[in-house]
Amino acid sequence: MQGSANLNVMIKAARMAGRSLVKDFREVENLQVGTKGPGDFVTKADLRAEEIIHAELTAARPSYGWLGEETGEVAGKDPTRRWIVDPLDGTTNFLHGLPHWAVSIALEHKGEIVAGVVFDAAKDEMFYAEKGAGAWLNNDQRIRVSGRTRMIESVFATGIPWGSMRTLPAMMQDLARLMPQCAGVRRWGSAALDLAYVAAGRYDGYWEREAKTHDIAAGLVIVREAGGFVEPLYEGRDIFEDQMLIAGNGGVFTKFAQTIRSR
Ligand code: IPD
Ligand code: CA
Ligand code: CA
Ligand code: CA
Repeated sequence: MQGSANLNVMIKAARMAGRSLVKDFREVENLQVGTKGPGDFVTKADLRAEEIIHAELTAARPSYGWLGEETGEVAGKDPTRRWIVDPLDGTTNFLHGLPHWAVSIALEHKGEIVAGVVFDAAKDEMFYAEKGAGAWLNNDQRIRVSGRTRMIESVFATGIPWGSMRTLPAMMQDLARLMPQCAGVRRWGSAALDLAYVAAGRYDGYWEREAKTHDIAAGLVIVREAGGFVEPLYEGRDIFEDQMLIAGNGGVFTKFAQTIRSR
């Protein structure tokens, strides 16, 4: 697909960060520099990748604002546009040598996510979308959400935030209700890839009760452009404010959302 200039800048930055991460992934032993809480690590790899993305994006678009997981928020001269970046989504996997992590870059315009890139550098899979232009994998594969309609044949993904007692009881209830109705639930540890996989039809749905803006911004537009639904977990609320969302294909979404939402 012929992307816009902004999308090309995002893809280039994701590739550059991906190269740095792949290099660091070979020598993970000495990378950890801190923790933000239980199961929430920071490594030199996260910091290096964010620096690379920041340098690339701000050089290309100096007026845009910035929201990065490791460096926080910086207002831009242009208050209507900002980059939303998670340089390494799936740090715990990364530190354990598990090849399931991604770079996530989104562009927000007037409060709406208009483009997103999720790059799985270990598997060389680049998922991307721009509002109105469909969702894509690598150079030329158009992706669509799955066509499954039966819950019992569907596989769902979620994230269970370690160390958080705030949402754990609700999460346990979700699992107890959903598991008997479906073919499987996966918890692979990268929210950005969970959403990208829904877009690619690999998962039939995904929900999470503690997902930060940088985890989900890019994936959200990719799912929508792949023909899927992304909604606040509780109707009428705001995904980013609540940090809770539910996504899925059209065939199972109603039943899936009902299962998770009803108490
Ligand atoms: C985490 C991953 C995980 C999700 C957590 C996130 P990080 O991001 O996306 O799947 O369940 O909520 O914090 O810290 O590895 O970038
Ligand atoms: Ca983190
Ligand atoms: Ca993340
Ligand atoms: Ca991260």
